[in-house]
Amino acid sequence: MIKVGIVGGTGYTGVELLRLLATHPEVELAAITSRKEDGMPVADMFPSLRGRVDLAFSSPDKARLTECDVVFFATPHGVAMAQAPELLAAGVKVIDLAADFRLQDTASFEKWYKQPHTCPDLLKEAAYGLVELNRDAIRKARIVGNPGCYPTTMQLGFAPLLKAGVIDASHLIADCKSGVSGAGRKAEVATLFSEASDNFKAYGVSGHRHSPETLERLSLLTGDKVGLIFTPHLTPMIRGMHSTLYARLTTDIDNAGLQALFEQAYADEPFVDVMPFGSHPETRSTRASNMLRIALHRPADGDTVVVLVVQDNLVKGASGQAVQCMNLMFGLEETAGLRHVPVLP
Ligand SMILES: NC(=O)c1ccc[n+]([C@@H]2O[C@H](COP(=O)([O-])OP(=O)(O)OC[C@H]3O[C@@H](n4cnc5c(N)ncnc54)[C@H](OP(=O)(O)O)[C@@H]3O)[C@@H](O)[C@H]2O)c1
Repeated sequence: MIKVGIVGGTGYTGVELLRLLATHPEVELAAITSRKEDGMPVADMFPSLRGRVDLAFSSPDKARLTECDVVFFATPHGVAMAQAPELLAAGVKVIDLAADFRLQDTASFEKWYKQPHTCPDLLKEAAYGLVELNRDAIRKARIVGNPGCYPTTMQLGFAPLLKAGVIDASHLIADCKSGVSGAGRKAEVATLFSEASDNFKAYGVSGHRHSPETLERLSLLTGDKVGLIFTPHLTPMIRGMHSTLYARLTTDIDNAGLQALFEQAYADEPFVDVMPFGSHPETRSTRASNMLRIALHRPADGDTVVVLVVQDNLVKGASGQAVQCMNLMFGLEETAGLRHVPVLP
């Protein structure tokens, strides 16, 4: 059994990791941290885990993380890079759900996350945890930077088109919507029920930290600079993410050809569903599962292709993706512990 530690067990991605790992056939939960809830049984805070998780939260300094095989950081940016050197030296693998090991460009990291990068050497060896586009590197990695939720949808939605060179890569548009759990569990006025429900708004339109991450990864696919306009929105759902992506076609390709690009790209992917051309995927068709669904459109048979992508921001957008990475890093079946059917209605 793989001994797993989770730093930041009281947050939304933390409790999602607990839900997925509590029934994972190859995992033993060994340590779950919280600075505020030291000593509280996990099931007291999360009754959904009664009878499944019998550990108590412990403060990070008391948790025996160096005795684990892998530690997940479900924490704010900056926490993982402070602890990763010690864990790696003790032979522990690290999966960070925050941004410490995503952006290879440290200047960009420092600009967007407002803190210096304290271990650039580890960053260089870290694998970016988007399995469908980086499987081999993740398999060999000791440290993984799990992708952001929006970047997951943008990369998987644009990748087949960019790889085939059929769109204008200098002018991509991503119009994305996230459920409120994307902002985490900490108390904030903007996510109060009376502020976020029955309301809909864009944010970060002039610049969002998921842009540099997406641009850096997409340019690796094209070998050249990519242009992206990314507009995130907060929508009054608890879970779920819907991204509508637009790109201008530059070659003569018909709808069947476009569809074939996606079907071939994701033919062997257990967690990417390419729906029939012209479908309208719904966020609820992925709720609580690691599935991401994609559908293509071409309005008025013009030269713009529209790609619709849906996922659960807490699963494929965060904790499910992280477990998918763990499975690869330990040579397990990639789908182990992740075969849940989405919850509907
Ligand atoms: N929510 C999403 O949909 C989503 C998707 C993709 C990626 N992410 C990323 O995943 C990370 C976690 O997000 P979240 O939504 O789960 O956040 P969250 O709900 O706010 O939870 C944060 C957790 O980190 C702990 N924590 C805070 N500061 C810490 C510190 N200095 N040292 C140790 N533990 C600390 C908190 O517990 P204590 O304060 O009790 O220690 C809490 O358990 C973030 O970096 C986020 O950007 C989130």
